Amino acid sequence: MKEPMKGLVISGGKGSRLRPFTYTGAKQMVPIANKPILFYAIEHLIAAGITDITIIISPETGDQIQSQTGTGERFGANIDYIVQEQPGGIAQAIGIAADHLEGHPFVAFLGDNFLTQGIVPQVHAFAAGGDEASIMLKRVPDARQFGVAEFDGERLVRVVEKPESPPSDLAVIGIYMFTSRVFDAIGSIKPSARGELEITDTIQWLLDQGDRVRADVVDGEWIDTGRHADLLTANRIVLETAPDDRGGGNVDEQSRLHGRVILQEGCKVVNSVISGPAIIGERTVIENSYVGPFTSIDHDCHIEGSEISGSVVLENTRIQHIQHRIEDSLIGRDVELVGDDRKPRGYQLILGDFSRVRVP
Ligand code: G1P
Repeated sequence: MKEPMKGLVISGGKGSRLRPFTYTGAKQMVPIANKPILFYAIEHLIAAGITDITIIISPETGDQIQSQTGTGERFGANIDYIVQEQPGGIAQAIGIAADHLEGHPFVAFLGDNFLTQGIVPQVHAFAAGGDEASIMLKRVPDARQFGVAEFDGERLVRVVEKPESPPSDLAVIGIYMFTSRVFDAIGSIKPSARGELEITDTIQWLLDQGDRVRADVVDGEWIDTGRHADLLTANRIVLETAPDDRGGGNVDEQSRLHGRVILQEGCKVVNSVISGPAIIGERTVIENSYVGPFTSIDHDCHIEGSEISGSVVLENTRIQHIQHRIEDSLIGRDVELVGDDRKPRGYQLILGDFSRVRVP
């Protein structure tokens, strides 16, 4: 293959399963270990030598993605954007990028798919030539919520979208490679029952034409970060291997840090215990508190007189004087969670739609 590969990150969608976070932001920008999910995808492309990247955004959340991601300078990449005016499916999103891709082969990466191992060997294998498409597979306990691959011996014969009775336990993950032949497929398929041009139908069209489609089972973890529990799992996975880096923080003499702790620029730890792995964001203050393992607290938060563990806290949030430990929780941006002793004792709550609270 002569032309260098390009990258296409598909980051539209409403993120309805991740509400309430996605009322005020894109699902791809929800942080895992204080870094947006989308940035992991961009870094995987760059690690595979792909620096010309187009991001498909929606009119609703595109501004946030574009303002936080920028032109790619900080990643050492060239990033530009295309707005997908209507959500018409992954294949439709790829279709609108046809001119941009200028005939180059490319990787299409769903911006909410999280991978631990990256895509370097798969990109090299595809770039070596001979295949019109390449898909990646992962064995999952319940394949019904994904595209699913069916093999005849070694040969990939079928991919089906969210089948009720999956032909295998091999989910098609949201990272695909194509040559410009894919645009013939996209131009030929029809919208599915859910009104979308399906990526699985696109791949099936190529298979039906006798085109070569490569399929690799990936090593490492793959998480389609569509639900809350998936975010906590991805957060755990990243923190598990994140290196210790306490350089950016200010820790007083009364505080104790155990295990691997990342202190980002300008954060402060006062009379507190942090048991890693954990990450404390820029300018965040942890005061008279305990932060337990697998916790990510993003920038400009204030945690005081409280205990929190196994949780993800987004930026600008204040947690003060909470009596019981906060565990396995996802707490959004600009939240105030404050305990007080006033009588009569009762909960005073202002919770957005689709909030979930469990109190002892
Ligand atoms: C999409 C694809 C599906 C794939 C999944 C991976 O599903 O249609 O084939 O397995 O991404 O994340 P969606 O998330 O649009 O329901």
